[in-house]
Amino acid sequence: MPVVTTIDDLHRIYRRRAPKMFYDYCETGSWTEQTFRDNTSDFAEIRLRQRVAVDMSDRSTRTTMAGEEVAMPVALAPVGLTGMQHADGEILAAKAAENFGVPFTLTTMSICSIEDVAAHTTKPFWFQLYVMRDRDFLRRVIDRAKAANVSALVVTLDLQMLGQRHKDIKNGLSAPPKPTLANIANLATKWRWGLGMLGTKRRQFGNIVGHAQGVSDPSDLIAWTAEQFDPALDWDQIEEIRDMWGGTLILKGIMEPEDAKMAAKIGADAIVVSNHGGRQLDGAVSSIRALEPILDAVGDAVEVWIDSGIRSGQDVLKAVAMGAKGTMIGRAYIYGLGAMGEAGVTKALEVIHMELDKSMAFCGHRDITEVTRDILRVPRGFSGDWD
Ligand SMILES: Cc1cc2nc3c(=O)[nH]c(=O)nc-3n(C[C@H](O)[C@H](O)[C@H](O)COP(=O)(O)O)c2cc1C
Repeated sequence: MPVVTTIDDLHRIYRRRAPKMFYDYCETGSWTEQTFRDNTSDFAEIRLRQRVAVDMSDRSTRTTMAGEEVAMPVALAPVGLTGMQHADGEILAAKAAENFGVPFTLTTMSICSIEDVAAHTTKPFWFQLYVMRDRDFLRRVIDRAKAANVSALVVTLDLQMLGQRHKDIKNGLSAPPKPTLANIANLATKWRWGLGMLGTKRRQFGNIVGHAQGVSDPSDLIAWTAEQFDPALDWDQIEEIRDMWGGTLILKGIMEPEDAKMAAKIGADAIVVSNHGGRQLDGAVSSIRALEPILDAVGDAVEVWIDSGIRSGQDVLKAVAMGAKGTMIGRAYIYGLGAMGEAGVTKALEVIHMELDKSMAFCGHRDITEVTRDILRVPRGFSGDWD
């Protein structure tokens, strides 16, 4: 087994092992990828204050996210096609998260279905909903989530249309991959991935196929999204979904204080400050820059979490010190999954936890719930001196 000490190590192994089409799908932002790049580089702009001669024994990274106990303030974000990065990917990631003590979020666009994941885990997980035009499907999928004992519904608000990602169009992204010459040539070099896929029956969109009516070709993600996702989604509909669900509600994809206030007003339990990992509106600011104005706007009215660009425990620490109650990671755990399956997701969580725990200690803290902005050096105007 290769020696892995960073998320970057997992990324390198993942790149070798995953088919190009799925690697590109993950490692892509929309249009010029400016926001995708800014998400990570802006975290690096923030520096930490080292403290000394402070008791560093008995440390804890435990806290809560939307009322749930977590081993650290990190949840696995919903990631489409996870089961194409590695056979049975959603099941493996959910198991790794459960064993580590952090939440796992299953996307609507997963390969393994809600029922598959429920059958292979023992604790409740979260389900992320994309709002479709087909209201019957919407109602049924919410009922299926309830039946599977899902403990929170994450409604993603920033993808009613797909941001254009050039590589996906050029690669002809589909699940499963179509047997074109380019795909066959590439897959021939990915024997480990291929063996895994031969050993599973889960190779299509598990929540969709057999559950949605009038679906033309669900293997073609780009065409299918354009056809099925409801571009008319508005706050009235979000309130309807809130009532249909009736449980813990998390709204994901919020980047502006006005939207955050609306989310708090309709009674969301948490919001995720997120630009979808730079995959939707290219040109939006990084989410770490968007965080503080949102915190100022909503105060304690709603829990504020953040994702996009987190690649280390230090990034988690910076986000929490700025005031986020929790974080989500997308690519960081997908790299682990694509590199080594369940063990790779566990490794990603261990790396992030170790970096978070040690960095917190170096900054003079023993308890993540007591960390404040005082540990940070934030460049002046970081959160916006924009007109
Ligand atoms: C390959 C990929 C697929 C994604 N699919 C979904 C999805 O199905 N639903 C969703 O709400 N967000 C989706 N996202 C966004 C993530 O939930 C999350 O916001 C993002 O990955 C955070 O950025 P990071 O990857 O830099 O951590 C996806 C992200 C990636 C990288």
